Amino acid sequence: MLDLKDVVAVVSGAGSGIGRAMAEACARRGAVVAVIDIDLDGAEETAVGIRAAGGRATAYQGDVTDLAALQVLAERVETELGGVNITFNNAGVFTAGPLDRTRPNDFDWVFEVNVRGVYNAVVSWLPALRRSAAAGKLAHIVNTGSENSIAVPTMGPFSAYTATKHAVLGMTECLRRDLKGNGVNVSIVCPGVVSTNLWNAKRARPDRFGGAKVAQATASDALDAGRSPEDTVQTLFEGLDQGEFLIVTDPRIRAFTEPRLAEVAAALDICDTRVKL
Ligand SMILES: NC(=O)c1ccc[n+]([C@@H]2O[C@H](COP(=O)([O-])OP(=O)(O)OC[C@H]3O[C@@H](n4cnc5c(N)ncnc54)[C@H](O)[C@@H]3O)[C@@H](O)[C@H]2O)c1
Repeated sequence: MLDLKDVVAVVSGAGSGIGRAMAEACARRGAVVAVIDIDLDGAEETAVGIRAAGGRATAYQGDVTDLAALQVLAERVETELGGVNITFNNAGVFTAGPLDRTRPNDFDWVFEVNVRGVYNAVVSWLPALRRSAAAGKLAHIVNTGSENSIAVPTMGPFSAYTATKHAVLGMTECLRRDLKGNGVNVSIVCPGVVSTNLWNAKRARPDRFGGAKVAQATASDALDAGRSPEDTVQTLFEGLDQGEFLIVTDPRIRAFTEPRLAEVAAALDICDTRVKL
């Protein structure tokens, strides 16, 4: 069982959806939660809700694409809340469409938030996590991947987004290898479709990537059919309690992942017959 009593948990993208449910789950387990989001109002709403339920949470405005600002924030959180024990690098955005019809600014934006954002968060929080590990305390990084990390879903195309989430899995697996034996654990959660505000991600798109844009309400239909953020996070915590690295939260992911796994296995078999070293 992942014991979060009195530990400091940091959750990015915690002003909405899965991040909010992660922050609430951490608080219910007794953690002091740093609720971080580019949208301070959303972060405040999460923190207020946690405190109203008897938990401990502080909201911070933080843009995961800004490494320098994130490093300053990491110092501030440590000063205000104490040594950090678990970070949920969860902030993420979404753009739909095939690769050749993805605008360069949207391509850059999803990579900047979903990939560079995870790198920035790891670099910013790892010193504190290493200190916690060295003191014999909990130290754990949980990155948010996706069903798009392990295969290409039938729903879509979400090509640039899928590429970012494959990158998150690659980074997280490297991180596990890099941190082996250092006392810092690493996990990745790969949710299926979850009913959140991700369909309207451009509501917070910074000006340098084209500015904010509100999606048509019908764009929410596909996500409305997903699991709830709370159920998704419940499944995540069941995996964390078991010390798992790769935590998949929706059985429907199997349908399009098994063909990918079979294709890789077949390519390896062909290579064995073709190449003798
Ligand atoms: N909803 C799904 O179906 C689904 C499935 C698999 C994975 N995910 C992943 O879950 C994570 C959370 O998404 P969600 O579905 O809860 O969406 P959401 O839009 O409800 O929440 C995302 C949060 O991230 C914040 N954010 C955006 N850019 C940011 C930035 N630069 N810095 C800090 N915060 C920023 C937003 O303000 C928002 O509060 C993302 O990484 C997403 O890719 C979602």
